[in-house]
Amino acid sequence: MEVIVLKNAERVAAMGAELVGELLHARPAAVLGLATGSTQLALYRHLVERHQNGNVSFRQTTSFNLDEYLGVVAENPQSYRSYMDREFFEHIDINKRNTFLPFCEDGQNPRLVGIEYERKIRKAGGIDLQLMGLGANGHIGFNEPSSSLSSRTRVKTLTRQTLKDNSRLFSADEFQPKLAITMGIATIMDARSILLLATGESKADPVSKMIEGPVTAMCPASILQMHERATILLDEAAAAELKNRDYYDWAHRQNESLKNRFGVFHD
Ligand code: F6R
Repeated sequence: MEVIVLKNAERVAAMGAELVGELLHARPAAVLGLATGSTQLALYRHLVERHQNGNVSFRQTTSFNLDEYLGVVAENPQSYRSYMDREFFEHIDINKRNTFLPFCEDGQNPRLVGIEYERKIRKAGGIDLQLMGLGANGHIGFNEPSSSLSSRTRVKTLTRQTLKDNSRLFSADEFQPKLAITMGIATIMDARSILLLATGESKADPVSKMIEGPVTAMCPASILQMHERATILLDEAAAAELKNRDYYDWAHRQNESLKNRFGVFHD
């Protein structure tokens, strides 16, 4: 794991966009794994800006989102499809036919949707870079605590904490879905590289468990300790409970000088 602590959320988003940009320069037809949520909004804003300045193109890119609510039509402004269109896809040059979410039509068997999603990811050649956020309870995608560490795309029931955390996004009379289809933890671990962004003090506890705690299904993000190429971008508030902070800063400086000397390597 490479842990990079930056001054604030804005810097986190800017660096996230820079890393995505580097990948797309090296590999314009890269397959991106995408996420929704509040943390990703600033990252998408930076990527849109880079695109508008002519610094990055998504024309050849394919994307797979981590998750989608179950029981919400795509046109519903609360669907993750709507979020992605609104916040990102409509402002860049990606071919929308190459953007995928694990969407389940009314009456469709969600189990088959999960199997088909896995097949599509494999057919696209696998995910080069998976972007993600971190739930206050340590979830990644909607893999809630106790999710199997070898799970694949399937239906998950959201925990009360996640429902409460996300209730800020729903008005009082609006239907808040309790089920979602999410990539599994094994699906996420198959990505060739991972970029997780976490900002704000509400993430300090799950961040410390993810990075310095035991690998356990009770903190699904802790599985990233087993990933060969996981980069974690944090702001000061989210890094507040890390014990090895000095080492992460020092190691990051070493990695930067290696990068300046030898460039970025994308296998
Ligand atoms: C969203 C997703 C979730 C969020 C996480 C953090 O697609 O997969 O895991 O990344 O809940 O959400 P925010 O950024 O809103 O705190």
